[in-house]
Amino acid sequence: MQFYYAPLEGVVGHIYRNAHKANFKHIDKYFAPFIVSDQKKGFSTKDLDDILFENNNTLLLVPQILSNNAQDFMHTAQKINQMGYREINFNLGCPSKKVVSRNRGSGFLAHKEALNLFLEDIYSSQITQNMEISIKTRLGKTHPDEFYGLIEIFNQYPVKELIIHPRIQTDIYRNKPNLKIFKEALSLSRNPICYNGDIFTVSDYRDFTNAFPEVEIMMLGRGLLTNPDLVNLIKTNSKMDKNVLSAFHDDIYAGYQRSLVVDRKVLSKMKEIWYYLIQSFTAKAPYLMAIRKAMSFEAYESVIEKLFDEQEIVMHSGYSQ
Ligand SMILES: Cc1cc2nc3c(=O)[nH]c(=O)nc-3n(C[C@H](O)[C@H](O)[C@H](O)COP(=O)(O)O)c2cc1C
Repeated sequence: MQFYYAPLEGVVGHIYRNAHKANFKHIDKYFAPFIVSDQKKGFSTKDLDDILFENNNTLLLVPQILSNNAQDFMHTAQKINQMGYREINFNLGCPSKKVVSRNRGSGFLAHKEALNLFLEDIYSSQITQNMEISIKTRLGKTHPDEFYGLIEIFNQYPVKELIIHPRIQTDIYRNKPNLKIFKEALSLSRNPICYNGDIFTVSDYRDFTNAFPEVEIMMLGRGLLTNPDLVNLIKTNSKMDKNVLSAFHDDIYAGYQRSLVVDRKVLSKMKEIWYYLIQSFTAKAPYLMAIRKAMSFEAYESVIEKLFDEQEIVMHSGYSQ
């Protein structure tokens, strides 16, 4: 099995990715959160910083574009190619209202004709001579059966990998991944498939691979946020080392302190991370509350020190909302 780190906007940027790569093993590829393609505006400083080659030279990164305009997409893809990247991912999965109302992300899935024309333009363009284009998709916007029409469209193009998160837009992250349609996708797709969705524990992984032994690529998101060592646990059945987790935390914290001038912003980024990471510890609630209340570096560091001193790592953490 190959393991990919999912794009996680707002949580996993280059600082987090490099810290992850330095402390944990077994991720074959990292995907960057989406960049909205816009010819007029160009890259924002934040977007550019995140995908700069020199900010990602320890790992294999695939930048992602969110778009419904082929000219915009190709313009942005070309700039990303000039930075040195050879693969780009196209986002057809984002379920957020703001994105969907502009017919982007999973909102674009409801416009099959326009989507087909868009894909025809980009896959026949010059850019595909220098770059491979993969797609990350949901099953549809309002009904999972939309996928039957969508797969006919995807099958017309040389998609590097079709990454399927088998939910529809209206699910957001509710309900369970639709494995019945995913199974059909495996036999209907002419392109290689990567599975993504709700693999939070070793037992989730085993259940999935028992049901789908033919799947060779898997993308993990929230499972890695709660247990950054999840792939090692899957591969070697060994518990995450508390010292390694502590080093990972310190790398991220130091990285944010270097790159963000306002203390409050550093703390708010760290609080976001702990929303997931706390699941790796035996006792959670009182520490999470104390982390959320911390308004200075001093207060924050004292809670973290206490947490690492007093609590143990749990073997199988999982993710729960
Ligand atoms: C906070 C957050 C941010 C996300 N940002 C992106 C993104 O930028 N691009 C994208 O394609 N998916 C994004 N996703 C979706 C994830 O990549 C992934 O598909 C989703 O979490 C399901 O996988 P999981 O069950 O392994 O977490 C995001 C999800 C979350 C929770």
